[in-house]
Amino acid sequence: MIRKCLFPAAGYGTRFLPATKAMPKEMMPIVNKPLIEYGVEEALEAGMTDMCMVTGRGKNAILDHFDMNYELEHQISGTQKETLLADIRAILDRANFTYIRQREMKGLGHAILTGRPLVGDHPFAVVLADDLCMHPEEGVLAQMVGLYKQFRCSIIAVEEVPAEETHKYGVIAGRMLTDRLICVEDMIEKPERGKAPSNLAIIGRYILTPDIFDILEKTPPGKNGEIQITDALLQQARTGCVLAYKFKGKRFDCGAVKGFIAATNYCYENFYLHGE
Ligand code: G1P
Repeated sequence: MIRKCLFPAAGYGTRFLPATKAMPKEMMPIVNKPLIEYGVEEALEAGMTDMCMVTGRGKNAILDHFDMNYELEHQISGTQKETLLADIRAILDRANFTYIRQREMKGLGHAILTGRPLVGDHPFAVVLADDLCMHPEEGVLAQMVGLYKQFRCSIIAVEEVPAEETHKYGVIAGRMLTDRLICVEDMIEKPERGKAPSNLAIIGRYILTPDIFDILEKTPPGKNGEIQITDALLQQARTGCVLAYKFKGKRFDCGAVKGFIAATNYCYENFYLHGE
């Protein structure tokens, strides 16, 4: 039912310099797989087949990754190494990739609005590849699609974070509907210390209804002078309904060194060692 997944992937990845000077941050590998490939796998698992990528200058490695490399395929054909390409080949068989370039960095809301021609007038998911989410049975996007079928409104993934970290996130507040679902009543992008309405932080998984685009068109620059999806979602919550979902599973902030190392260790122990 939700076929499209948008990947804002134009950001510079300054927290990982110098590694990201000439390489897209989305291509940083967790063990032997680039971050964005984990996101694409999660979207596929949730039934999405159209991967809509918002890229920018210097991001061509992403396009090359989700394409054939005939020389390489020819070179390793018939050898043991072919098995290393099995996952990415399966992705290419199942998913379509479309791309649009964000020419100016004006925030996550602007990046999502840039993807509008790829998405059209359909509900869609958004994955921020920096946030690596893992659940052994059902990925976070699949969990959210299940909820969308029931509620048919925008849904954002949230997680409890320590109070001293709320300033790094969009933070929500609202009315508890169940132990995992909250009807959003307030939302602040990166609140100053001590001003967060709760400790429920927005994590990089969203399901958005397409009316968000018209709202984004009218959303003025907010925190840091950028067009924030958080501000547009608050508008949507006030006029309609936005749900926040405390997802099941683990989340690693791979945009920072600590989370990146934790994700690497987790994936090495849980997937790579078993595959050897
Ligand atoms: C973005 C969003 C923020 C959200 C975060 C999740 O911020 O603006 O609301 O909490 O992603 O990773 P960024 O990390 O891109 O600054």
